Amino acid sequence: MSRTLNVVDHPLVAHKITMLRDEATESSAFRSLCQEITLLTAYEALRHLPTKPVTVKTPITTTESPMLDGPAPAIVGILRAGLVMVEAILTLIPHGRVGHLGLYRDPETHNPVEYYKKLPERMVDREVLLVDPMLATGGSAVHALDVLAAAGAHNVDLLSIIGCPEGVAAVHDRYPDTIITLAALDERLNENAYIVPGLGDAGDRIYGTK
Ligand code: PRP
Ligand code: URA
Repeated sequence: MSRTLNVVDHPLVAHKITMLRDEATESSAFRSLCQEITLLTAYEALRHLPTKPVTVKTPITTTESPMLDGPAPAIVGILRAGLVMVEAILTLIPHGRVGHLGLYRDPETHNPVEYYKKLPERMVDREVLLVDPMLATGGSAVHALDVLAAAGAHNVDLLSIIGCPEGVAAVHDRYPDTIITLAALDERLNENAYIVPGLGDAGDRIYGTK
């Protein structure tokens, strides 16, 4: 039972998280901050990608040096808010394949409702990184992990910006081997299933909706 949770401990990440939490931060800055935090934390979340040595001729000599191995990793974003994270990770892994899962939380039950799904082929062979800025009840992440498992994916990790103990437990109760990487682990959920202190509704803040 691995139940691995990494909370990235870095002053730059902490600084940008504080700016993200600030209700005065406008949509354009909020989007940029989400992308910057994704780049800084993806470094940790992608640590397990396999490599193989290849021969490379430098201007000085010929040497063996590692390159990513296996089929292109899949980056799967939970819509809407996961989209900004997908775009950031594509700058690190331009050959990555992208999957989209459209989910929204029912306002009454807070359970995820699926409205769209498009995954790359051969998920069984790929390393998969699921991305969503918020891990609240964990319902959306668990639903997404169920969809990915049904598609045959078995190497799936999760990268979120802010999580809470309830969401981490929900994911690890069902998928103990999924490595969760967060930029911040907050205190708890409130009575409306929002993360406290959190940052509010990530999708609305990214896209300027209400
Ligand atoms: C937010 C967020 C996650 C989900 C997390 O999306 O981006 O997908 O809530 O909550 P959970 O852990 O309790 O499932 P939302 O449902 O608001 O949809 P949106 O991105 O389209 O606004
Ligand atoms: N979804 C969000 O966008 N924010 C929360 O705090 C919880 C779920």
